Amino acid sequence: MLIELKNVTKIYNQGQINEVTALKGIDLTIDDSSMTCLRGASGSGKSTLLAIIGCVFQPTTGRVSIAGKQLSRLPDRFLTLHRRQYIGFIFQTFNLLPALTVQDNITLPLVPLGIAPVEMRRRAAVLMDRFAIAHRRNFPASQISGGELQRVAIARALINNPPLILADEPTAHLDSRLSEEFMHFMKDLKTAGKTIIITSHDPLVTEHADVDRIVDIKDGRIDAA
Ligand SMILES: Nc1ncnc2c1ncn2[C@@H]1O[C@H](COP(=O)(O)OP(=O)(O)O)[C@@H](O)[C@H]1O
Ligand SMILES: [Mg+2]
Repeated sequence: MLIELKNVTKIYNQGQINEVTALKGIDLTIDDSSMTCLRGASGSGKSTLLAIIGCVFQPTTGRVSIAGKQLSRLPDRFLTLHRRQYIGFIFQTFNLLPALTVQDNITLPLVPLGIAPVEMRRRAAVLMDRFAIAHRRNFPASQISGGELQRVAIARALINNPPLILADEPTAHLDSRLSEEFMHFMKDLKTAGKTIIITSHDPLVTEHADVDRIVDIKDGRIDAA
């Protein structure tokens, strides 16, 4: 069992006038090598849930364990280490650094790991070949197409070879062809044994044949209906 959440709650700005309860008592278990879609309206708590699974921040209350490790209540530095080792994140707007080259964007997650530059370039080369972006290796990210950006974002998420891939509304800015292509890449990753969690309300994602499970989120709760 790769991921387990027990009674997870997230309150932003607790005790302040702008307090928001984004997640309320989430119980969720995600199986290894599966593709799960977190589906829900805007503001329902999908990104918050993904960020907690992705060790971006801790839940306010509740327990999270990933790969058998109990993560909740760990100091932030351990959370960061865990995230670097186990998780690849793909963001809605890709979050690439526009001035950096394709290659440097892809290797960025390896920099804090202290990996030798030659090894970084070797790993990036494998991924750039796989995602057909090698010819753009020295282009700044600001000068490549939307489809190429998407593939760079996937390559960057894979550079540390994480078992868990998280994608937050990855098709929101893609046309239907690129959305299909994105799901095709996710299918290949699942086949290779990765666990994939995607937040979306895009039917091209939620109704895709390779999604094993849809978890509906409504007002910060899992909607069983
Ligand atoms: N950093 C934040 N500070 C305060 N409130 C937040 C923050 N992030 C999200 N929220 C609130 O938490 C709720 C859930 O947001 P979010 O997880 O982004 O939902 P979704 O991804 O489904 O649109 C919303 O009411 C949102 O306004
Ligand atoms: Mg969101």
